[in-house]
Parts: sequence; C-alpha cells; structure tokens
Amino acid sequence: MNPSEWIDIKEGDGHPVEHFVIPPHYSKDLDRVLVSHGLIRDRVEKLAHLIAKDSSKPLVACCVLKGAHVFFAQLMENLKKLKNAEGKSIPLSFEFIKAKSYENDKSSGQIKLSLSEEDLKSFKGKDLLIVEDIVDTGRTMVALVERLKQYEPASVRVVSLLLKKTDRSNRYVPDYVGFAIPDLFVVGYCLDYNEYFRDLDHIAVISEHGKKAYAV
Ligand code: IMP
Repeated sequence: MNPSEWIDIKEGDGHPVEHFVIPPHYSKDLDRVLVSHGLIRDRVEKLAHLIAKDSSKPLVACCVLKGAHVFFAQLMENLKKLKNAEGKSIPLSFEFIKAKSYENDKSSGQIKLSLSEEDLKSFKGKDLLIVEDIVDTGRTMVALVERLKQYEPASVRVVSLLLKKTDRSNRYVPDYVGFAIPDLFVVGYCLDYNEYFRDLDHIAVISEHGKKAYAV
C-alpha cells in the first residue's frame, strides 16, 4: 500500500483523555487518545472492502495473537458480508498464530512463533491473509511471512491496523494499512503493555505514569 492510501496520524495529533469514556482504572495511565474506537471501526470497514476487491479465491485469515484479535474479529465481521470484484462472496477460514517479541516497550530481539506443523502444511496452495495489529520494526512480519512461504501457499497478503513511522523500521510495508502512527508506544483496542490496556477500546498513548505502573 502507498502512503496516500492510509490515514496518516502525525506527531502531536490526538485528543485529551477526558473527552472520552475510558476505564477509570487507567485514568492516570494515558497521555492522550490517538485513534478513537469509532474511527478504528470505520477504517476497518474500509480495509475489508479493499481486501474483498482484491480477493478471487477462498481466504485463510491468520490472526496474529494476542494483539490482533479484536481487529481480526471486526475485519472478518465486515469481510464475510462483502463480495469480490466478480460479485462473489469470499469463503473464509481462520487460523491463530502466536508471535511475541516485546518486553516492556522495547523489542527484545526475540521472535517466538507458535504453529503446529500440521497447520503449516495445510497452507500449501492457499491464499493467506495475515492479520496483525501493528508493524513496528517490521521484524516480526518479515520473519512470519518468510516462514509461511516455506509451506508454499498460493499467496500471502498482510493487513496491519497500524504502521509505526520509526527509524528502526526495516522498510517492510504491509499490503494494507489502517493508520500510520508516530514513533510512540500505543495501547488499547487489544494492544497491550505487559498484558495491560487490552480492555481499552480506543488506541491511546501510554503516559509515563502508566509505563511505571505496569512495568515488569
Ligand atoms: P516488530 O517486530 O518490531 O514490527 O513488532 C511487532 C510487534 O511488537 C507487534 O505485533 C506488537 O505485539 C508489538 N508492538 C510494537 N509496537 C507496539 C506498541 O506501540 N504497542 C503495543 N505493542 C507493540
């Protein structure tokens, strides 16, 4: 996807937390709301339309856990109602992949993937759609796509809700991107900081207080 096709969120963008309903247990832990839940939902609907238009065969949608699960659910909810460019509905099947690479707010340099050999072999000849919450350095996604390609799928496409604009990027750009965001650590909409903030609907910037409160 080209930068002109995604929503670009700039440094300093966002809204005061007080303007939204957020769980009171996080009242001191957020700096600002970066992307509201309503805007996320609208953008997910559009991403589903773009994916449907480009799909000609059944899709194996692979959710990258845990962070992408809400995005995945809303994307599939939209996709199953849509038709492809030939006016046909798109048969969908689901896979769930665990990938973990972070501790606190820094990359640990370790990428752990969990997929059974049986599941991987079943990808041969299939059209895969990897559904990810955020691409930061790009290392997780490059490693995951390389690994999946070894099992000879017919195609692999990647949709990520967020793409972080960071100097640490390996320049990997997903096929579909919801929002490009500044180089900040964000939480909510199932994105976590040490497993906290998944229960926040909006995507928000964590505060220094929040980082200290939930550090491991
Ligand atoms: P990458 O390998 O650096 O692209 O990292 C991708 C993974 O890091 C994502 O799937 C997330 O789990 C995690 N991650 C990166 N940035 C953030 C963030 O701002 N908030 C929450 N998780 C993040």
